[in-house]
Amino acid sequence: MGRYKDVFRRSLTDPTGFWAEAASAIDWYTEPETILDDSNPPFYRWFLGGTLNTCHNALDRHVEGGRADQKALIYDSPVTGVKRTYTYRELRDETARFAGVLHGLGIARGDRVVIYMPMIPEAVVAMLACARLGAVHSVVFGGFAAHELAVRIDDAKPRLIVSASCGIEVTRVIEYKPIIDKAIEEAEHKPEHTVIVQRPQAAAGMAERDLDWHELMAHAQPHECVPVAATDPLYILYTSGTTGKPKGVVRDNGGHAVALAWSMRNVYDTHAGEVFWAASDIGWVVGHSYIVYAPLLAGCTTVLYEGKPVGTPDAGAFWRVAEEHRVKTLFTAPTGFRAIRKEDPNGKLMVRYDLAGFRYLFLAGERLDPETYRWAGQLLGVPVVDHWWQTETGWAIAADPMGLEKLPTRPGSPTMPVPGYDVRIFDDEGNEVPPGQTGQIVIRLPMPPGCLPTLWHNDEGYANAYLSRYPGYYLTGDGGFRDADGYLYVMGRTDDVINVAGHRLSTGEMEEVLASHPAVAECAVFGVNDELKGEVPRGFVVLKAGVTADPDALAAELAQMIRMRIGAIATLSRLDVVPGLPKTRSGKILRKTMRGIANGRDEPVPSTIDDAAVLDGLRPILRPNGPGRLS
Ligand code: COA
Ligand code: AMP
Repeated sequence: MGRYKDVFRRSLTDPTGFWAEAASAIDWYTEPETILDDSNPPFYRWFLGGTLNTCHNALDRHVEGGRADQKALIYDSPVTGVKRTYTYRELRDETARFAGVLHGLGIARGDRVVIYMPMIPEAVVAMLACARLGAVHSVVFGGFAAHELAVRIDDAKPRLIVSASCGIEVTRVIEYKPIIDKAIEEAEHKPEHTVIVQRPQAAAGMAERDLDWHELMAHAQPHECVPVAATDPLYILYTSGTTGKPKGVVRDNGGHAVALAWSMRNVYDTHAGEVFWAASDIGWVVGHSYIVYAPLLAGCTTVLYEGKPVGTPDAGAFWRVAEEHRVKTLFTAPTGFRAIRKEDPNGKLMVRYDLAGFRYLFLAGERLDPETYRWAGQLLGVPVVDHWWQTETGWAIAADPMGLEKLPTRPGSPTMPVPGYDVRIFDDEGNEVPPGQTGQIVIRLPMPPGCLPTLWHNDEGYANAYLSRYPGYYLTGDGGFRDADGYLYVMGRTDDVINVAGHRLSTGEMEEVLASHPAVAECAVFGVNDELKGEVPRGFVVLKAGVTADPDALAAELAQMIRMRIGAIATLSRLDVVPGLPKTRSGKILRKTMRGIANGRDEPVPSTIDDAAVLDGLRPILRPNGPGRLS
């Protein structure tokens, strides 16, 4: 651990010198005056006084610097049979024109624009066009239902929504327009316009508020990059917390650009002219950071893939893309690899492809089980790098930093804290625990550039949710430990957040939906292990006295309610109607104990339990493969 150790140490002992150097990779209109503004703890700001434009750094700079004809973006869509390539010049021109469209619609610096789109190039163009004008985008994952979109519209208060007529889920066409109309109807805030990309698979019915992307673009004038402050927001990305109200994670312009550019070189070892593919969705943070911004900031070619790892057309889909587009670095969630492994355990489909240029597989978004790690490593013969981060940080907290030094891998561990992150493990009292002992994973403030400076219009919520538990430290919400050599092990969330197939969801929010049904007296939802998706939600409901509903029909109705309100990604794996829920004497539902039993652990009866018979009554159906009502 020579180079890593030195760089890591310097990042903590001299953060301003370290990040000032890293900032030289970015074009500034005005150089920052203060690298780290720590005058108002616990709020920290990076690169104060600096002005830049993120879109300029992602596109124009490369066009002007000799990469105009290099591929910037490769759109590969097996679900529609379309492939399209944009050079840096083409992507810059398209983006500048859409920025002109936005400007023509009155969008200016600081205005919010919600982007609710499938994985099509126009989504990337819309994001970059907002950045070009200094407008703040808020991308909402296309798998979220109307209510989720409405909640985000009400919080971000966008002047405009950019969307498409449909998304495609393997073979199913999902019409977006009815979802948008429903969301706008439900929301109190009403955006002035919606701009719709009409796709051939479905025609959206257009109302007065709706404008056609292609018609607008046909008459658009390009718009230049608008200088913004380093501390101005680039985007808001909502993420699941413990309640039905998602958290609006804010990302600034300056810190974000510097951190992502640094990460491409030092974490991903991927450089200008090379091909980087993040097989995720632009609706998630991985998509923001590593489909759109980081590869373009670094002058790479990014791949925008509209499809799944399996079924489009088969479990060889990823290898076909990797070969065809000469991908050096692939980044996806472990669940994608579990899906491939299930269909093609011996890699028969993989060996058909020439993967000579393929160098790295990076995995994040959920825990990488050692089994999948070993399988992928043996099959591919390249480093498989588990790395850990969150929407809030925007880039890796812990990783094996390939561009600095390849450290020995320990399966089950995302290796070491990335330079800039001072990671500690605390017990409930805020004392650091010894190696091997599990506790809360926290990060000492200030966090490095790129991490959230606050929540959207909610400094207090930011401080309460993340900074109040251990003053001076950011609470990650993950539990874990470090071994004697400092390797970090992330064991799972300690709150109501679960990760289903790499999608971050709130069990608290699912409970809110169940509790809103008139027949439901109480309920509990928790995550249980799943071979493919890592975790899936399962639930229990207790009915109000006197309700005589058929339990099967009610369970199906309740599960459907969750799908309709949150989205199909939140489908319950199982829901049981039960006579009572186990609680402590103070009335707290014992979700953790139930989750443990459901995951096959022999959980002891907690000493605080109110009535052990209730828990014992549930044990048989809690156990894995126990009889159930819904599967
Ligand atoms: N729009 C509309 N619906 C969507 C959607 C989208 N963008 N994404 C998912 N859904 C729907 C699916 O169609 C499915 O609906 P159904 O229950 O009616 O069949 C449901 O949500 C669950 O989807 P998903 O969790 O993705 O499960 P799946 O069985 O369709 O696919 C995997 C499983 C593992 C193949 C898939 O999750 C995957 O490719 N994961 C890759 C990793 C990834 O992208 N992670 C994101 C963060 S890095
Ligand atoms: P998201 O904000 O959607 O990126 O989800 C962040 C959460 O995913 C983290 O808080 C972790 O619980 C989980 N996660 C992400 N990467 C990893 C990893 N490499 N190992 C374990 N958990 C992970």
